[in-house]
Amino acid sequence: MIQKINAAITAVGGYVPETKLTNADLEKMVETTDEWIRTRTGVEERRILKEPGKGSSDLAVPAVLQICEKRGISPEEIDCLICATVTPDMVFPATANIICDKIGAKNAWGFDLGAACSGFLYALTTGAALIESRRYKKVIVVGVDKMSAIIDYTDRQTCIIFGDGAGAVLLEPNHDGFGVLDSILKSDGSGRQYLHMKAGGSVKPASAETVANKEHFVYQEGQAVFKFAVKGMADVSAELLERNNLTGDDIAWLVPHQANKRIIDATADRMGLSHDKVMVNIQKFGNTTAATLPLCLWEWRQQLNKGDNIVLAAFGGGFTWGATLLKWAY
Ligand code: UT7
Repeated sequence: MIQKINAAITAVGGYVPETKLTNADLEKMVETTDEWIRTRTGVEERRILKEPGKGSSDLAVPAVLQICEKRGISPEEIDCLICATVTPDMVFPATANIICDKIGAKNAWGFDLGAACSGFLYALTTGAALIESRRYKKVIVVGVDKMSAIIDYTDRQTCIIFGDGAGAVLLEPNHDGFGVLDSILKSDGSGRQYLHMKAGGSVKPASAETVANKEHFVYQEGQAVFKFAVKGMADVSAELLERNNLTGDDIAWLVPHQANKRIIDATADRMGLSHDKVMVNIQKFGNTTAATLPLCLWEWRQQLNKGDNIVLAAFGGGFTWGATLLKWAY
């Protein structure tokens, strides 16, 4: 009989840039208040990659190198690197290729995956399938975004939420039932009207006019996205528990996308989960898009125990959303 293989996370890395952008800083830039931002979103400060000429790959490289150090492996042992991002270094080549070049992962192939705030979940499921296929033994999944590159710092609806950061995990085969156990991933492209970037793609290539019209920044209809996010993230997390015969009591940690503290609370309530089991670092890092989930795992890595049932959940542009169940492997 062929033995079942799961893809287990065997190491976690993370990185945020030094520069902090606080609510007090934003009060000087747009018509807003610290009080409004904290009570409506939960964010107190975010990190910004300021150095000119640096991009998402520069955030991801330290996170991936931490993993190699922790596992005692050389970058040349990595088989594949998947980079979830909506802020690639360039339109092409893929940021995954640039990361691999910068760390000397000479034997890896890789690609970028664009699913906005659900990017890490999509990439984790994809990476897990590569491990389960038995063709690859070491797959790195990165979630990274330099949101400051596409944020209009005169738009108070968006500039208060987003920040920059990177997180990564190593996936390896596990024969003892630990690792990624189940995933429900969803998408609905009709939601694109509420959250997108208008220019810079093939429909509307960059021009002097698109730049003048500020069409290379995030466009978000916050209220509409909020409504879909609360329902989407809560529904899918509840469905994942139900189909695995689990209740909130069986879950050690919820790792939710950090878009808005109110969305996180609604998801935890729907799962019947007490709030002390929910990872929340939105106050420090804001919404780092594809990086929120791995940044949580990185921050909480010392508190995770072998056998913990962990649910990761996200909602974002596309619309894309989903939830993943995993059993912590170490
Ligand atoms: O991660 C990807 C997915 N994205 C999300 O999940 C984001 C989901 N959306 C949200 O988190 C929230 O919709 C926002 C944080 C973006 C906005 O919060 P909201 O509670 O939905 O605010 P709103 O847009 O309904 O605006 C309420 C009021 C308005 O004033 P009036 O019309 O009631 O007088 C806004 O003009 O708050 C005003 N407002 C602000 N006031 C101070 C909007 N932004 C600000 C601001 N500071 N930064």
